[in-house]
Amino acid sequence: MPIRYEVGADRVATVTFDAPGAQVNTMTEAFQQALTATLDRLEAEKDSYDGVILTSAKKTFFAGAELKDVLKLTEADGPRMFHEIEILKKNFRRLEKLGKPVVAAINGTALGGGFEVALSAHCRICLDDPKIQLGFPEVTLGLLPGAGGVTKLTRLLGLQAAFPYLIEGKLMRPADAAKLGLLQGLAASPDDLSSMAREWIKANPAPVQPWDAKDFRMPGGSPNSPQVSQMLAVAPAMLIEKTRGLYPAPEAILAAMVEGAYVDFDTALRIESRYLAKLAVGQVAKNMITAFFFNLNAIKSGASRPKGVPRWKPAKVGILGAGMMGGGIAWSNANRGIPCVLKDVTQDKADAGKAYSEKLLAKRPNANSAEILARIHPTANADDLAGCDLIIEAVFEQRDLKAKVTRESEPQLAANGIFASNTSTLPITGLAQASAKPENFIGLHFFSPVDKMPLVEIIKGAKTSPETLARAYDYVLAISKTPIVVNDSRGFYTSRTFGTFVMEGCSMLEEGIPAAVIESAGRLAGMPVGPLAVIDETSMSLSVHVMEQTRADLAAEGKTYVAPPGQAVVMRMVKEFKRPGRAGGGGFYEYPKGGRKFLWPELARIFGKPGVTYDFEELKERILYRQAIETARCFEERVLETVHDANIGSIFGIGFPAWTGGALQYINHVGPAKFVARADQLAKKCGERFAVPKVVREKAKSGALFV
Ligand code: NAI
Repeated sequence: MPIRYEVGADRVATVTFDAPGAQVNTMTEAFQQALTATLDRLEAEKDSYDGVILTSAKKTFFAGAELKDVLKLTEADGPRMFHEIEILKKNFRRLEKLGKPVVAAINGTALGGGFEVALSAHCRICLDDPKIQLGFPEVTLGLLPGAGGVTKLTRLLGLQAAFPYLIEGKLMRPADAAKLGLLQGLAASPDDLSSMAREWIKANPAPVQPWDAKDFRMPGGSPNSPQVSQMLAVAPAMLIEKTRGLYPAPEAILAAMVEGAYVDFDTALRIESRYLAKLAVGQVAKNMITAFFFNLNAIKSGASRPKGVPRWKPAKVGILGAGMMGGGIAWSNANRGIPCVLKDVTQDKADAGKAYSEKLLAKRPNANSAEILARIHPTANADDLAGCDLIIEAVFEQRDLKAKVTRESEPQLAANGIFASNTSTLPITGLAQASAKPENFIGLHFFSPVDKMPLVEIIKGAKTSPETLARAYDYVLAISKTPIVVNDSRGFYTSRTFGTFVMEGCSMLEEGIPAAVIESAGRLAGMPVGPLAVIDETSMSLSVHVMEQTRADLAAEGKTYVAPPGQAVVMRMVKEFKRPGRAGGGGFYEYPKGGRKFLWPELARIFGKPGVTYDFEELKERILYRQAIETARCFEERVLETVHDANIGSIFGIGFPAWTGGALQYINHVGPAKFVARADQLAKKCGERFAVPKVVREKAKSGALFV
């Protein structure tokens, strides 16, 4: 049974959540049945106890909904889903109206449904452990806290104050939750937790939930109060500006909060159930659960890490090049407790790299600032690298220079240390030729700005050993970043696919489509910014440089380089108009000092074609299809080996929209057969770049999905 029940000699009934054979408690069908049985018993045996403690036998308190089950739901399951949530909430209501005090003794993390279990108690006491997380992350999985979470948090905090915790999924540490009044006590130890819970029971023999109290008033004001009504008048517009209409969950949460605030508590609960049922059977929730729960967990649990290699953490890391990337990498190490040597050609440059961390800390002061900074040793002396377990080079993107620094610094590595390159474009196998131990050579591709971007793309060279890969993987996790593992290929996975996004935008411009339309299509498909804005940031001279390098490399292999559509636009921007991008003073956009950027007005004259027609929906599709097709090609060519690396790499590395669940999940979202049919049409109309690889055609035929 997932719930144990016992009454102690002190007349306290302890209800212990302990799902058999599972690491965490979740709301399975067995739990739901056990909860009903427990409530039957609590109601029948009221005379035998004075109060109830809800507790958990697991390390965490309660994890929430069983997400595997949510993935299986179809539209037809909507009414059943609604009915089941209602039963669960009826049970929570029975607990609240038992007439006896109920205390949740929160011994560990309680998220989502787990926090809702806690909110059905009259009092919550939590272990004061900053590792414990409380709150409602549902929105990040395309869902809403529908087991009372929306309704209760709104009534506990008020419409405005509850926003970040419901609509943004902001989580709380116990101390934060106590400050908000969501906890009635913080316990220093498990023993304290138990005795505080018992004391509360003694002191509060007949508690009533705030929303059941006769004099209940919505904190912060009712929706009709002048202050709140003003906020509500603009809230939907502000939300749509953020979600672009692509994320149904935050919209549903806002609706459930506001509609629920106008009616009595039980009606509000029912409104919330309806919104949850609708979200849970929808496709966006499936996409987001797939990516942000299952795929991300696969990565965190080491699914792409070679087995059998002992866990590893470098004691000292060397970083070559204290530029934009090196400075950021140094921060990531120091901030996670790993000492590093930051080497550049002069002491000044090395110091400037460390100054990046100083700036970050000045912006966000930290109690450990001095300690963090002390972990970065800036130097111009290569001898200081002696004994590093890992050296990461982030010098200029030049093959010869990279070879030179590899040869120079490798001898400084500790015995069996590993060497990594942060190159964004140069194949790792080639760079490894400069290494005396190519089996210990690997690619660690960080993203800019390193302190904000969570992804690191790990690239295996032809000779990289499984041990080196396992170590690199452990290292990326140790600095709290998310690793994906890919095989060597030009542009690896992320740069290659990112390139297809920006080039699709450029090819639209070449077709004469107005720049503003292209940018809107990108944003409304869900990309963080339009393709022209993004290439301005990364600089078109870099694109030209990469193209030229690719052409030269292919020529050396006896192959011919075929320029992709859109490339001529980039060439003209750089060579003819001298507008390489933001850093070069302007590109597709103008960047007035102190003002907002705007599209370069000349674009219309140069690239515009009077009378051009376009289908806006198709432009959006082209942006997503092009990247999904390139991702599928990478999968077919084994550049990508797993679906989770593809989905997470595309979202975190390229900005592929989260609502799709990632670039391969997007094919599942459309349905492989429909995807193939549409891609075939696009290929006919726009060109071979939309030709779907075999692996997608096979899925379309068999009806299987990318999992
Ligand atoms: P950067 O130009 O900001 O920094 C390069 C640094 O390397 C400079 O400070 C330079 O003085 C130093 N350097 C040159 N020769 C050196 C030597 N012999 N020993 C030590 N230091 C030396 O360049 P950035 O942007 O930091 O890029 C570095 C690497 O990271 C490149 O391979 C680049 O492709 C890659 N990368 C860049 C990304 C970006 O967005 N900028 C993203 C991902 C990777």
